[in-house]
Amino acid sequence: MLNIGILGFGTVGKATFEILQERIDVIEASVGDEIIVKKIFVRNKNKHNYDNIDANLFTDVISEVVEDDSVDIIIEATGDVGVVYEGIKVAIANGKHIITANKEMVSRHFEELNQLANKHDIQLKYEAAVGGAIPILCQIPKIRELNEIVEINGVLNGTCNFILSAMEKGMDYNKALLDAQQAGFAEADPTADVEAYDTVRKLRILATLAFGVKVAEDEITREGIINVSKKEIDTSKKNGMRIKLVAHAKKTKDGIEAFVKPTEVEINSVLGGLEDGENAVSVVCDNAGELVFKGKGAGGRPTAFSILSDFLAIACK
Ligand code: HSE
Repeated sequence: MLNIGILGFGTVGKATFEILQERIDVIEASVGDEIIVKKIFVRNKNKHNYDNIDANLFTDVISEVVEDDSVDIIIEATGDVGVVYEGIKVAIANGKHIITANKEMVSRHFEELNQLANKHDIQLKYEAAVGGAIPILCQIPKIRELNEIVEINGVLNGTCNFILSAMEKGMDYNKALLDAQQAGFAEADPTADVEAYDTVRKLRILATLAFGVKVAEDEITREGIINVSKKEIDTSKKNGMRIKLVAHAKKTKDGIEAFVKPTEVEINSVLGGLEDGENAVSVVCDNAGELVFKGKGAGGRPTAFSILSDFLAIACK
């Protein structure tokens, strides 16, 4: 039997639980074991409508999950970097494998959490933290075995891509942001999205893995989309271009150059073709050339897909 503890039951935690229930037969057959959701941590037990889920599964005491000896794997989908970060460290020390979608936590504590995971011989996975459904992080070690990665370009925030796409169609910024929130794309505080902190965190994780050296958040120049005007968007489009929130990192002889900023790209390019909540990552390598990964960059089910891909990678014997 394999026991899971879930931290967080918002858009992503709930979607993960639902897919797990819907596909339990296939997943159990792949894993070769019975899978049980043992406990779900939520901040406020009364806030949730549990539908048909056993209310006893829920707790607002995180230690009941991270210190439960029977829990083998923790799935973390809270976005919290306080109590939950402390809880994750306890869980690692207790020998539990960790799967997290928490970009802010992974970016902020990348080296520490990876070292702790090695020390306690557990697996720490965070595919869902970068690029939503796109299986990009799992490809990086395979690419690096046979290549030097020299450059990365991407669109890594679904909310911003959604807003910029909607503004092209004539929607006003505030309405577009509201729609992105309703679609479950935006962070609880969307400032992280539109001011590009979220993209910086994702690029920090991706570039650190891709180049094999620490790329810190403060080494990445940041500019969000809040000052992009309708006029600029329209002028771009007339010139065969689109404005995207581009994340870029490149190896230079002086170190890593990295920025996140609104950038004009050609309509017919990989990044220029992205619509709504889509993301893409282009990885430029010395041997393979350019590799492109594209998919849904945000939302409950796309992100849950990445979480459960990590789960299968850990659980399948
Ligand atoms: N708020 C994030 C986005 C969610 O819009 O991309 C996925 O990381």
